[in-house]
Amino acid sequence: MRKISVIIVAALVLALLAACAGNIPGNNQGTNPGNNQGTNPGNNTGNNQEGGNGKTADNQSAKPESTPADEPGSTADGNPESTPGTQPGGNTEAHKKVLVVVFSATGTTKGVADKIAAIEDADVYEIKAKQEYTQADLNWNDRNSRSTKEQNDKRSRPEIGSERISLDGYEKVYIGFPIWWGEEPRIVDTFVESYSFDGITVIPFCTSSSSGIGRSGRNLEENAKSGKWLDGKRFPGGVSEAELKKWIDSMK
Ligand SMILES: Cc1cc2nc3c(=O)[nH]c(=O)nc-3n(C[C@H](O)[C@H](O)[C@H](O)COP(=O)(O)O)c2cc1C
Repeated sequence: MRKISVIIVAALVLALLAACAGNIPGNNQGTNPGNNQGTNPGNNTGNNQEGGNGKTADNQSAKPESTPADEPGSTADGNPESTPGTQPGGNTEAHKKVLVVVFSATGTTKGVADKIAAIEDADVYEIKAKQEYTQADLNWNDRNSRSTKEQNDKRSRPEIGSERISLDGYEKVYIGFPIWWGEEPRIVDTFVESYSFDGITVIPFCTSSSSGIGRSGRNLEENAKSGKWLDGKRFPGGVSEAELKKWIDSMK
């Protein structure tokens, strides 16, 4: 009888234990967050990563165009001493080794500067007058025109309006200008006196109706007081790229 009681009690204990086991966390795990992971943020993360990667790739390719902060130009703009080039230089890419600086009142010398830049794979920096030259200012028949008065005064230094450029990293700098009254416009002197050309080879060039470069290159060299200056050359406005290339190659 006692044996039967012991067996019954043991059976009851076992039954109780079995009932408790049905409620333990281990069983719930089948429907808990662990399983939800199949459709939860964990998986979404996976999707996002894929989508994200796709987007990132897209974004990466779209970034330079669509993110102003990454655009060389805007970085350059944020830089007080930027390169054209972005302006040359302040951009995220390393700027070129050659710079073509140009002052051009009516566009002729700028056209030549652009051709030189194409041949040399160079940056271009344009000297713009703070007070732009009007037609009347450029009238050489008027002895009282701005340009006539400036050219008659060797100490005249018209103010530059374009943003300063950093010459850091440039090894060769071309400086182009039109001939005014047989010489460089005084604003080009303003430019050369504002920078150090230490360690830079400087090459002047000009355009004109007929005059040669004359003393212009030497005037600029004397006023710059730094840099290794090569002889300059005068070109007609319509000079060909082949002609310019011949000149450039002759200096190498
Ligand atoms: C005020 C002034 C003076 C000039 N003086 C001369 C000159 O002495 N000799 C010459 O051959 N051309 C002279 N020119 C013509 C320019 O040098 C020529 O048109 C040049 O290619 C213009 O270049 P840009 O368009 O880059 O300003 C003069 C032009 C101006 C506006």
